[in-house]
Amino acid sequence: MSTTTELPPPDLTADAARHKLIAIASGKGGVGKTWLSITLAHALTRQGKKVLLFDGDLGLANIDVQLGMMAKRDLNDVFEGNLSLAHVIEHHAEGGFDVIAGRSGHGSLAAMPLQRLNDVMQQLRALLPKYDAILIDLGAGIDKTVRFMAAAADLAIVVSTDEPTSLTDAYAFIKLSHAAGHGDNLHVVVNMTGSAKEADTTYGTLSKACQTFLKFTPPMLGYIRQDKRVRDAIRAQSLYLTRFPGTETAEDVEAVAGRVAATLLV
Ligand SMILES: Nc1ncnc2c1ncn2[C@@H]1O[C@H](COP(=O)(O)OP(=O)(O)OP(=O)(O)O)[C@@H](O)[C@H]1O
Ligand SMILES: [Mg+2]
Repeated sequence: MSTTTELPPPDLTADAARHKLIAIASGKGGVGKTWLSITLAHALTRQGKKVLLFDGDLGLANIDVQLGMMAKRDLNDVFEGNLSLAHVIEHHAEGGFDVIAGRSGHGSLAAMPLQRLNDVMQQLRALLPKYDAILIDLGAGIDKTVRFMAAAADLAIVVSTDEPTSLTDAYAFIKLSHAAGHGDNLHVVVNMTGSAKEADTTYGTLSKACQTFLKFTPPMLGYIRQDKRVRDAIRAQSLYLTRFPGTETAEDVEAVAGRVAATLLV
């Protein structure tokens, strides 16, 4: 048994380590990354965390659209070199979290040279001490900008549904991250599932493929049940947890947020 004198010296970087840059990824499009990024930001805020939500979908940015925000400044101003990242942060009053909006359909952002993107990621990391968590909503696919942003994050949440195409693309994302040396930073969330049992089956299929071919399996962070009211909330450009509190799906997101807060933001 260790005595006080045997305790290691205090980790002076512990406070800095508490702040985390978390990418939400998937491979396949349309699995709920943007909705989950927003709802997770909201749930973490309600649990007392200070959160910044960054729209990292450089091709089809739509966080501002889902939130019904009229962003006065966005990432395009940063990429054009007019403003620093800190100057394009907007506060979402209802949700209580901060947002950096992208610019939807602005092709030039998707074609951003990696050097420029690297500069923006550095600026984003410099904002970390002001927040408990910065969430990056990534675009679909596994192109180089997506991989670059995922690699720049401390952690990545890989979202998959039970569809074979979604599982295949989640596996492809995990395989590439693992090959790049970031496998340990991955966590899986099963979205749009019918039940906890179905989510376990979906995760089981994914983890079996990972174990067989990669000899490692990213842990499951949780699951989110399918609810047609998600679409209603998005249509109304409103926050799901405000509009439909207490639903099973709301509880699922809150449970995932609780696990992020308890195990990842430490
Ligand atoms: N848990 C859920 N239950 C029911 N519908 C959901 C759920 N999560 C997401 N959706 C639906 O999935 C659709 C796609 O969601 P979202 O735009 O967040 O996906 P995405 O992964 O960000 O897509 P893209 O790859 O195009 O950026 C939305 O219309 C939303 O209504
Ligand atoms: Mg999206």
